[in-house]
Amino acid sequence: MGLFTVPEARAELARLRPVLDELVRLRADAAELAASLRPGGRETSLGGMPEWKAAQARLDDLMTTVQRTGAELKGFAPLLVDFPAELDGVDVLLCWLEGDPELCWYHRVDLGFAGRRRLPDRVSVVSEEIAAGLFDGIAAHYDEDTFHGLVADALVDGLGSTAPERVLDVATGTGVAAFAALRLEPGEVLAIDISPGMIARAEAKAATDDPGKRITWQVASAVPSPVEDEGADAVLCASSLHFLGAAALRDWLRALRPGGRVGFSLPIASAFRPSEAFAAIVPADLKLPETEDDAAELASEAGFTEVTVKRLDVESDDRVRSVFVVHATRP
Ligand SMILES: C[S@@+](CC[C@H](N)C(=O)[O-])C[C@H]1O[C@@H](n2cnc3c(N)ncnc32)[C@H](O)[C@@H]1O
Repeated sequence: MGLFTVPEARAELARLRPVLDELVRLRADAAELAASLRPGGRETSLGGMPEWKAAQARLDDLMTTVQRTGAELKGFAPLLVDFPAELDGVDVLLCWLEGDPELCWYHRVDLGFAGRRRLPDRVSVVSEEIAAGLFDGIAAHYDEDTFHGLVADALVDGLGSTAPERVLDVATGTGVAAFAALRLEPGEVLAIDISPGMIARAEAKAATDDPGKRITWQVASAVPSPVEDEGADAVLCASSLHFLGAAALRDWLRALRPGGRVGFSLPIASAFRPSEAFAAIVPADLKLPETEDDAAELASEAGFTEVTVKRLDVESDDRVRSVFVVHATRP
């Protein structure tokens, strides 16, 4: 098997999360069943020998799924998964231990776990450069897909009818949500994106779509957003939070004034099938929602209140694309 880059290993870990979660649940079931089967063992409502055998078989399947990715399952309790990689010409293992919120440790192959060190911060900068390059590459045709407009409309509709003084559109792309926000008659809109190609497309459209020049376009990283604390009345983030990770939610709490509103969309976990290149830039610390409740929990656990979630299903080209549209308030 080949080596992983850090973004690739993080994306693989994100895909493996449901498998690892199931491993942890089943491991506990198997331990409880095994204990009940020992002489004098305490009975369990989980069952007996057949259930124990079924749990073992399923655990084997899950462990095989992990190994097939090219990652090495080094520990079972606690789970320890290593991704072979190279950092500055040195063979290392990127190392995830059960309980780690994301993949942020490595150790030299020859040193083992005792040589575990934190990954340097520059790794996240490198992955932003990769993201900018990937999105630059799709900027020219991005607006051909009408899906983006529908998501943006749903986000803006849920912000309420009061005109916000300052709107921040995070990861604006070609500006679809920023332009949609103009109908709220805001004082100003700050639209930021890491991709110069996307921002150039947005600026080209602004000549006709924003005659009052209320939108400021800026090539900037989403986290931290270039807004002072409590400097925004509303934050929009269409189809992008899954590329930004949990830190973006924390940053919006910082950037919004108390009572300010956020509207963001997220893909549904089981339907999210990015190409390999895009999968590699998806951070591992934000678990995509499978249900409306999961999506609401992401916002409320981050600290937002008055959370509402709607599922938006859009039919186009013989397929249905679905996202969760989340609105919430900064307390
Ligand atoms: C799927 S597009 C969504 C664009 C737009 N919001 C829309 O709904 O059409 C994702 C956008 O996120 C931007 N992006 C990815 N990582 C970013 C980061 N770390 N900081 C700022 N923008 C980022 C990309 O450049 C891209 O324009």
